[in-house]
Amino acid sequence: MTQSTNFVDVYPVQWRDDQVILIDQTRLPLEYTEVAIADYEAMGHAIKSMVVRGAPAIGVAAAYGMYLGARRIQTTELREFVAQLEFVADQLRQTRPTAVNLFWAIDQMLNVAYHSGENVEQVKANLLSQAQQIQLDDLRTCQAIGAAGLEALPREPQQLTILTHCNAGALATAGYGTAIGVIRAAWSAGRLARVYADETRPRLQGAKLTVWECVQAGIPVTLITDNMAAHCMQQQRIDAVVVGADRIARNGDTANKIGTYGLAVLAKMHAIPFFVAAPLSTVDFALDDGSQIPIEERDPVEIYQPGSIRITPEGAEFYNPAFDVTPASLITAIITEQGAIAPGQLADLEA
Ligand code: MRU
Repeated sequence: MTQSTNFVDVYPVQWRDDQVILIDQTRLPLEYTEVAIADYEAMGHAIKSMVVRGAPAIGVAAAYGMYLGARRIQTTELREFVAQLEFVADQLRQTRPTAVNLFWAIDQMLNVAYHSGENVEQVKANLLSQAQQIQLDDLRTCQAIGAAGLEALPREPQQLTILTHCNAGALATAGYGTAIGVIRAAWSAGRLARVYADETRPRLQGAKLTVWECVQAGIPVTLITDNMAAHCMQQQRIDAVVVGADRIARNGDTANKIGTYGLAVLAKMHAIPFFVAAPLSTVDFALDDGSQIPIEERDPVEIYQPGSIRITPEGAEFYNPAFDVTPASLITAIITEQGAIAPGQLADLEA
């Protein structure tokens, strides 16, 4: 394992030397590698192949992707510039369908192009500022989610054991994390005994990324396979479940990494509070309920070949949905930067 940096503060997307630097999340934890991204096509590929992943981080990456596309546009005619930028937006929109932050960030960038300048050079400069602002806002938002989550966690026991799924950490955001933001805040406040991390088949974000982040931060972490969660709850090892979100409908139904719904059912069965931690940019107020959320299906190779070796015989068919939808009725509270609220109250927060 290569480690050359202080990993306590993890920033998966950075603007450095006129290009975007991504931590290559497909190589963690075995290798810490940075990838330089200089054009929007490379950014689109990085999002699709999950070099950068996690809803808010995808949003930040897409915002920079829009700028990378914008700066290459040659025309000085504003209308033509906007038309070409809309093409870039369409390409980036086709990378991953579920995390709404991608679409939200692209729309924020397009708004800047539509309204913020009189000439192309000025708009290009504004687009870079906007991408940087989206990134900074997300970092602050995660810290606010952490503080709000600390307030929302059960009062007993004093030191909690929290189960999380996938990776909703610094790696999945501009930094700090949403679900792991709550975990970090609880750890700093002396309210955390331990994290249980689901390994999160098929891509193993829990085993690879959440465990890595916890170890970097000195947070005690126990890795379990996904099918151990029920047993751990029955054994009263888990005091609360905290997960992230990729898209939340206005009624509070929440799409998150495949397996989240099952955890919510289990938590209900064992009377364990189940929290979703997410920024308001993850709420899609245009959708009435979770049945309207597009669910990404990924290459079956993720199932039949988790590493370099195929683990199942030829002859089977595969189904590989990357996300599932947890009904609002199973969610104790949604923790946003504006505080923790019951899922039914989400619509009141529409700007
Ligand atoms: O497929 P991924 O790794 O992008 O999925 C990530 C998740 O499901 C996270 O829980 C979600 O994006 C929230 S990240 C703060």
